[in-house]
Amino acid sequence: MAQHSASILVCDELSPAALEIFRARGFEPVVALKQTEEQLVLRVQQGVQALVVRSATKVTRRVIEAASDLRAVGRAGVGVDNVDCDAASERGVIVMNTPGGNSIATAELALGLIFALARHIPRADRTTRGGSWEKKALTGTEITGKTLGVVGLGRIGRIVAERALGLRMKVLGYDPYLDPAAATVPGVEFAPLDELCARADFVTLHVPLSNSTRNLLSRERIARMKRGARLVNCARGGLVDETALLEALESGHLAGAALDVLEEEPPRKGHPLLGREDVIVTPHMGASALEAQHAVAVEVAQAICDYFETGATPSAVNLAAIAAGARRPR
Ligand code: MLT
Repeated sequence: MAQHSASILVCDELSPAALEIFRARGFEPVVALKQTEEQLVLRVQQGVQALVVRSATKVTRRVIEAASDLRAVGRAGVGVDNVDCDAASERGVIVMNTPGGNSIATAELALGLIFALARHIPRADRTTRGGSWEKKALTGTEITGKTLGVVGLGRIGRIVAERALGLRMKVLGYDPYLDPAAATVPGVEFAPLDELCARADFVTLHVPLSNSTRNLLSRERIARMKRGARLVNCARGGLVDETALLEALESGHLAGAALDVLEEEPPRKGHPLLGREDVIVTPHMGASALEAQHAVAVEVAQAICDYFETGATPSAVNLAAIAAGARRPR
């Protein structure tokens, strides 16, 4: 087996499968977890050629500009909003993600949260353990026959939509990157976002966070949501105007929200959404299933090895941006 000299720094905890693959293919990665930006800058100045991250490490412009030998950033997960992709593209640094590995896990969490909201499951658990027997107060709603609005019909959104159809929900779909007139997913009725918001009993978000999707569920859109509707967000916190969401819950316009992601993670102590009985919060754990973590670790390790061995970049997210800046991948 050929030994490779490429210097790979793994910055977040990954399934051991990733390190096994690197080693089996002749790479010797260094693992350095929980690095501050300052520490990361010092490390990358030592000739690091690839950074491998989950979501905790922020690969900022400062880190990228300090890393004169950096050629690739591998993200074990889908969202690349923790990597400054503009800075990477300007320097010809390839950013790769693992688009398939955690789709099922995230979709299943979203479905779990729909059930949890509909039947107040976390509150029922809390109050029963606390000695209460709130059978009447915990009367919920069935999801059969209700309308689910799926915002984002990529890999995760499609799984949610298919499974929801199996649960006998009616599914409306909207995707900012698809023409509603031309888009087709079997059983899903495509609609403009405002119409989806107005008609859905449950709205679930499955779009990446970008300049064009930030605040997608703005104050105006939340106001357009059906009275008594419930919101699930397993995508990114910045998609929702949290102040407007809080007000919509306080006024009774919305009946509940389940948030796996928040604008600020972890949230500050005393965050007003966290004190509410009609809000369920989980710690950005959509991808935290054993199968998903194994899959993304394998995908990212293979992608980095392939890139150094052959130059292949099938999962790069910024090739067009690199080319537009007349740069070549490093
Ligand atoms: C992702 O973007 O892949 C998910 O949010 C999972 C994660 O970052 O942990």
